[in-house]
Amino acid sequence: MEPVKVGLLGLGTVGGGTATVLSRNAEEIARRAGRGIVIDYAAALDLERARELGLDCRLTQDAFEVVRDPGIDVVVELIGGYSPARELVLEAIDNGKHVVTANKALIALHGNEIFEKAQEKGVMVAFEAAVAGGIPIIKALREGLAANRIEWAAGIINGTGNFILTEMRDKGRDFEEVLREAQALGYAEADPTFDVEGIDAAHKLTIIAAIAFGIPLQFDRCYTEGITRITREDVAFAAELGYRIKHLGITRKTDAGVELRVHPTLIPERRLIANVDGVMNAVLVQGDAVGPTLYYGAGAGAEPTASAVVADLIDVTRTLTADPENRVPHLAFQPDQLSDLPVLEMEAVETAYYLRIQAQDRPGVMADISRILGDEGISIEALIQKEPAEGAATVPVILLTHRVREAAMNRAIEAIENLDTVTAPVTRIRVETLG
Ligand code: HSE
Repeated sequence: MEPVKVGLLGLGTVGGGTATVLSRNAEEIARRAGRGIVIDYAAALDLERARELGLDCRLTQDAFEVVRDPGIDVVVELIGGYSPARELVLEAIDNGKHVVTANKALIALHGNEIFEKAQEKGVMVAFEAAVAGGIPIIKALREGLAANRIEWAAGIINGTGNFILTEMRDKGRDFEEVLREAQALGYAEADPTFDVEGIDAAHKLTIIAAIAFGIPLQFDRCYTEGITRITREDVAFAAELGYRIKHLGITRKTDAGVELRVHPTLIPERRLIANVDGVMNAVLVQGDAVGPTLYYGAGAGAEPTASAVVADLIDVTRTLTADPENRVPHLAFQPDQLSDLPVLEMEAVETAYYLRIQAQDRPGVMADISRILGDEGISIEALIQKEPAEGAATVPVILLTHRVREAAMNRAIEAIENLDTVTAPVTRIRVETLG
């Protein structure tokens, strides 16, 4: 049988890894797919890169030539970003080509439009590499866990952020220095604020929530908070209380709606996911039948991400002759069966909190803080107050609270910050037991 002809857009870190894996494992891949998969046409701005990779195929600097080429069966989009990735993918679909992409930003923002067009044209759009790199979490959620009602999922889904938090905790390293190292290693996004401000994680969480609960992709409804305000002190206080700080993406189905949130989170250190360090990713999924399952592995990097891209290529190849109605739906549920369950406002979310309050060391301060929390129905679970440092007029007061609505906590924090004895904005980190 004729090999499947791939048009590869982008020869950066993941494009290079994909070319390498396809060539090195060609025989094994053909045995699995039932026919060969070859790169027939590649687009890159730097054509020298194609020669470095030893690519023996047609080359162009204009990616639109590839998506318009009648000889191409599957377009692999590894350019990243919103545009021209969106235009390229839509045109490829219009031309009847299947698409494989690692582009989480594209799927999270434009996935609804892309899947609708793909459905209309009877082609597949596969995106395993878009979430958690080499971890097959899309396949697990869409197929392996298809019997379950998914209750919640929580993940460390940005390797750069996890690397920064791990190095800060273990080596006391400086935030900026670790970020530069992640960039040099090829893990960070082109715009690293996407990593440290949680935007990259929010893209991935949006996709996880859609396929976990059968809702449309709603990136604009995702609450997103970064890790830039986490201090080494917070990391140390959390450890003293038996917790680790992780940048988590959390999505949970409640009767009122779906929680969709990315923020720094204290997790009990005994949880496996609390011990996922460095650039590694992990996603914990709670299904009603299976209970908790944990998926761990490399969330970024050339070959780990290529592993997911090539697996998608094999999947697409295997189902090329299948009736489009009988394929695994893009968002796990049949397109006419998506639910309109709303994504909740952050103020409606209920969670426990870590608070760090910088206050004057005077009688009555703790009483004031306790009164404010009590008035909002917030119960204190643990408390640490250190002696003031030599010559210091203020002390950090660390509190862990029981679960409460975010709206009540917002009001309490505002009142605490208005106390004359409180000298700095309150640091608030949400706490999840993930039990
Ligand atoms: N910048 C991302 C990360 C790359 O650090 O996880 C993989 O999506």
